[in-house]
Amino acid sequence: EKGGYEHFMLKEIFEQPKSIHDTMRGRLLVEEGIIKMAGIWDHLEKFKNANKITIIACGTSWHAGLIGEYLIEEYARIPVEVEYASEFRYRNPIITDKDVVIAISQSGETADTMAALKLAKEKGAFIYGICNVVDSSIARITDAGSYTHAGPEIGVASTKAFTAQLTILSLIALKLGKHNGNLGNAEFMSLIAELNAIPKKIEEVLETTHELTQNIAKDFIGATNFLYLGRGYNYPAALEGALKLKEISYIHAEGYPAAEMKHGPIALIDENMPIVIIAPKKGHYDKIVSNVQEIKARKGKVIAVVNKGDTQVSAMADYVIEIPETSECFSPIVASVPLQLLAYYIAVYRGANVDQPRNLAKSVTVE
Ligand code: F6R
Repeated sequence: EKGGYEHFMLKEIFEQPKSIHDTMRGRLLVEEGIIKMAGIWDHLEKFKNANKITIIACGTSWHAGLIGEYLIEEYARIPVEVEYASEFRYRNPIITDKDVVIAISQSGETADTMAALKLAKEKGAFIYGICNVVDSSIARITDAGSYTHAGPEIGVASTKAFTAQLTILSLIALKLGKHNGNLGNAEFMSLIAELNAIPKKIEEVLETTHELTQNIAKDFIGATNFLYLGRGYNYPAALEGALKLKEISYIHAEGYPAAEMKHGPIALIDENMPIVIIAPKKGHYDKIVSNVQEIKARKGKVIAVVNKGDTQVSAMADYVIEIPETSECFSPIVASVPLQLLAYYIAVYRGANVDQPRNLAKSVTVE
């Protein structure tokens, strides 16, 4: 059942070229220049005329939501807010029948997300679901939606469901942007071609970083803290990298937008602090270079995720993980994969039960 892998988590990490491909299949028609999503198409006016879109989720799905905010605001120019379901539901949020709510949930059973949606529905919002489990409770109370076709996710730490959520959010943002008139045809065509190439790039990442992440992991078995930093689209990817590490390895880890480092976390940096930096060429690269300089000046141990052929960050980093280049907006999908592997191997070498970490459940059906 684990298909020869030691854990479901590793199997699911390796399934990502296929799960992303499956999530795009029948939806992304590259040659025709079409994104087919009945749920969006049938309710296009709702989205176009929305006051705002509120994305509601928990945990990893909330991280996907943050990237969704960047995508939808950049390409569709519709204001987006991202809320933790547990906060949204208890603060009398401003939601009317002019609002669109997007719920993101792998299991479709998360109690807080479900309760938040009921509240949004009472207030008249149009509810769109991005769920992985077909016919789940959340999928059933939504007005429309798009399933991620990631297949069953057994490992408690979410991996392939996360990248499938990012795939759906990308499709939604590009489709809305096209129909809004905000995204010109040439840019649309080049973005969809790039999205279509993501499964191949992930295959490449799995091949080139599998052994490398194991070797890096061996050096950090005794770590007690980790910082993860990124900017722009890769700031939520840093949050997600940190969550993966802490939930399965029990090493404390924090994700931060790289520029926030100097507003506090920089005080933590010394030769014992490992810092994972996500630094692809597209996306504030020069700013990241100066962040790395600041870290190295304090002797922090830098593990850098960079594009192939990178020189500046690589020259300063203690460990370099190369990934292929892609559009900035899709880079978190590619960058997440080596971070999943790194978390996985650190946890395995520490002897942790990666598929069923202590105190965690696959679906959180109590608040
Ligand atoms: C982390 C993880 C959790 C879930 C969260 C939401 O790896 O799995 O943080 O993402 O409990 O679950 P869903 O997406 O099922 O609503």
